[in-house]
Amino acid sequence: MKALVVYYSLEGNTKFLAEAVAEAVGADILELKPEKDIPKKGFMRYIKGGSQVVRKKRPDLMSFDEDLSAYDFIYFGTPVWAASFAPSYNTFFDKVEVKGKKIALFCCYRGSAGSTFEHFKERLKGNEIVDTLEFKEPVKVEENKEKVMAWAKKLNR
Ligand SMILES: Cc1cc2nc3c(=O)[nH]c(=O)nc-3n(C[C@H](O)[C@H](O)[C@H](O)COP(=O)(O)O)c2cc1C
Repeated sequence: MKALVVYYSLEGNTKFLAEAVAEAVGADILELKPEKDIPKKGFMRYIKGGSQVVRKKRPDLMSFDEDLSAYDFIYFGTPVWAASFAPSYNTFFDKVEVKGKKIALFCCYRGSAGSTFEHFKERLKGNEIVDTLEFKEPVKVEENKEKVMAWAKKLNR
């Protein structure tokens, strides 16, 4: 099945997993990049990012190909922000119709995954969610790369 990996990452953890998934299944990759992102370091990033989630903000994204018709299988990856997915996905789901796809979800977090997958599932009705996988920090270790690659392959043969 032709696969796409969509991800957002502020600090590189989700990026690490997303690139491993793409490598495992030979998928195309789409990074959601806000035109103006929150700071990568410092306490303010929690205030700014958390408030974006709570206020359901839709940060403007750098342009990307919105046509997903070529793909049967999509992996969505996110860091957990305020117990949910990163707000770039609000913008993405407003712009792009995702229907009739097989979908796998992955996330990474520091404390707990919260309701991240539930919020994704709510936005992804009309698709088949085949599996979910979560990673607790530290994320960027070889063991996690192997784990996420094996998972990705098992789902998309
Ligand atoms: C704005 C913001 C909110 C966060 N909220 C949570 C949270 O609710 N629960 C949690 O376990 N980790 C939370 N984290 C930590 C990130 O989920 C974690 O550091 C993740 O690995 C970052 O992924 P990234 O490197 O792809 O950006 C938050 C981080 C940021 C920047």
